[in-house]
Amino acid sequence: EHQGKASSCTWAVWPQSCLHRYGFLLLLLHSLKTVTALEKKNIISKLGDNVTLSCIYTKKNLQLKNLRVYWQIADDSYQEKCSVVHALISGQDDNTNQCIRFKDRTQLFWDRLESGDFSLLLLNVSQSDGHTYKCVVQEKTEHPKVIHQAEVALSLAASYSQPILSGPIRNSDSPGEEVTFNCRSGNGYPKPNVYWINKVNNSRLSPSKIEIIPHDDGTFSVFSTLKVKATSNMQIECSIENEMLQENLSANYTQQKKSTGSGTESDENLGKKGQGAQAAGIIGIVFVIGLLTGLICWLWRRRSSNLVSYRDGQPIENQGGLNSPA
Ligand SMILES: *[C@@H]1O[C@H](CO)[C@@H](O)[C@H](O)[C@H]1NC(C)=O
Ligand SMILES: *[C@@H]1O[C@H](CO)[C@@H](O)[C@H](O)[C@H]1NC(C)=O
Ligand SMILES: *[C@@H]1O[C@H](CO)[C@@H](O)[C@H](O)[C@H]1NC(C)=O
Ligand SMILES: *[C@@H]1O[C@H](CO)[C@@H](O)[C@H](O)[C@H]1NC(C)=O
Ligand SMILES: *[C@@H]1O[C@H](CO)[C@@H](O)[C@H](O)[C@H]1NC(C)=O
Repeated sequence: EHQGKASSCTWAVWPQSCLHRYGFLLLLLHSLKTVTALEKKNIISKLGDNVTLSCIYTKKNLQLKNLRVYWQIADDSYQEKCSVVHALISGQDDNTNQCIRFKDRTQLFWDRLESGDFSLLLLNVSQSDGHTYKCVVQEKTEHPKVIHQAEVALSLAASYSQPILSGPIRNSDSPGEEVTFNCRSGNGYPKPNVYWINKVNNSRLSPSKIEIIPHDDGTFSVFSTLKVKATSNMQIECSIENEMLQENLSANYTQQKKSTGSGTESDENLGKKGQGAQAAGIIGIVFVIGLLTGLICWLWRRRSSNLVSYRDGQPIENQGGLNSPA
């Protein structure tokens, strides 16, 4: 009975006439699982990368024109949204039923098909590509026969940026010597774990706030705030963990020794020095301008008196006119 239905879904018109029977087809493939071993793989890719979903059949020589290879999303509940990721029918790509999300983003390796490598190159992956993909290879005999299947679970990840730790900020309105540290990072996927560590004895500190903000591109930013009692030798570390990538990025704060002055004090000194230098500069410029003005006046006088002495023989009336600019 199964075979009767299957044969009405003929090769020549597939997949159009077969798609509405997709559920049935899957059921058929399901029942053949015992015949063909299903190889399963997990891969992790970073957002924006190109990823190769592997599907390799090595058992015998293949005639491409007798084959039908299709890649689909294995999750049954996803079938209605996207049934075909990529299809190769009788040795040619068949885009007719490819779902739009994968348009121009999938490629088979043409030089490797003859040797049974039906791996799929998926370009520019985004977090919405995180699914389990299934490759099904059918051989055209009297009835289509599944000769190979493979599943690849694709997980997406993105590294967080180097965390930025700021603080300590004194909390004037709180009792005791409480200080606040802030730590932020971003551009990561999936959601991170945030750890605050007291490096003096490597104990965990609990933050007063962890805020994880999703962005349109699917990545997350993270902001965390820690409030601690100030001590004389604070060493605080903020660590952002991407569990999927097994990555931990950290930033730390180490309190300066009292003898050399704390960070803020030396900053203030630097500020004062800077202001002093500025004032000295201005005084210097004013002094130089004054000096130049004096020099110009002196030169002008000299020139005028020279002219006067040169024209000594001339009538006296001109002397007043020449001297007036000085
Ligand atoms: C992905 O493949 C495309 C086309 O082959 C190429 O232009 C691009 O640089 C690749 N991207 C990465 C991250 O390798
Ligand atoms: C990659 O995909 C993202 C969306 O997921 C898109 O904004 C970007 O332009 C694509 N990059 C390339 C090189 O196609
Ligand atoms: C670690 O040191 C801090 C003081 O810097 C102290 O309050 C805390 O109890 C210590 N934790 C452990 C586990 O020793
Ligand atoms: C990251 O750091 C935290 C805190 O030190 C630790 O518990 C966790 O195991 C680390 N993760 C990795 C992947 O190193
Ligand atoms: C603290 O961070 C600096 C760089 O920001 C690094 O050089 C140093 O080794 C770190 N110290 C500790 C104790 O992790």
